[in-house]
Amino acid sequence: MSSSGLSGTRRVERAVPGMPASDGAGVRLNRLIGRPGLADLDPFLMLDEFRSDSACDYIAGFPDHPHRGFETVTYMLAGRMRHGDNKGNSGLLRPGSVQWMTAGRGIVHSEMPEQEDGLMWGFQLWVNLPATDKMMAPRYQNIEPEAIPVIDLPGGAQAKVIAGRLGNIEGAVQAIATDPTYFDVSLPASGRFRHTLPADYTAFLYPFEGTIEVGQGDDPRTLERGRIGVLSSGDTIVVAARGNAPARLLLVAGRPLREPIAKYGPFVMNTQAQIVQAIQDYNSGRF
Ligand code: FE2
Repeated sequence: MSSSGLSGTRRVERAVPGMPASDGAGVRLNRLIGRPGLADLDPFLMLDEFRSDSACDYIAGFPDHPHRGFETVTYMLAGRMRHGDNKGNSGLLRPGSVQWMTAGRGIVHSEMPEQEDGLMWGFQLWVNLPATDKMMAPRYQNIEPEAIPVIDLPGGAQAKVIAGRLGNIEGAVQAIATDPTYFDVSLPASGRFRHTLPADYTAFLYPFEGTIEVGQGDDPRTLERGRIGVLSSGDTIVVAARGNAPARLLLVAGRPLREPIAKYGPFVMNTQAQIVQAIQDYNSGRF
């Protein structure tokens, strides 16, 4: 079956390395989406990996800042981060925690490390909202590590189903407009994982441990740690650990919105007028 049509196995269309960046009050991170060369990947607006065991890279954290018009998804692998917002919500993200925050019409929050040394490692993904939901009431789904289904697959692979569906298992995060899939997949040496998705959904892979091979037949593509693999359309994803070593990756997919994007820092709307409104609303304390 052709890999270029809507059915068939997805292949890596682009392999893009991360770009060192600094955000918040000076947190050093690796920006994979939302950077020159990969400005967005509809419906995904940004993907950052933060990973450091040097406190000076993360200790300043992300003090109070606003968001409007999209969702922020934080997934912690190591370390502790305290979250608080202007609606009185507060919570602790610990290793394995997920916070899916729908900013909607506006929230002002902070994300501060709750440790002074040791490894801090995790991801933040920004997911766009459709025009009809951009001004919805803010909403959180705070998922404790124990609440994320872990599926053992034939051949020794294991998948944490943060969002989306694997077989008859529903992910921990529910009812998101872009129908996202967000899996953390662990592969043993030469282990393999196969997954089917709507053929026209946007999808990417991000190996954060080891090296993976994507696709099958005579044209598999190698993806090393730290490179995001943007996938072609197709209904099937096939990924294998390469080099006689285990690997671990994010598999993320979602329904593209195909709507205009007007973006200004932490505000992501459809028009410039809505951005001006967001800035006015924020400055006059209406968030
Ligand atoms: Fe934030």
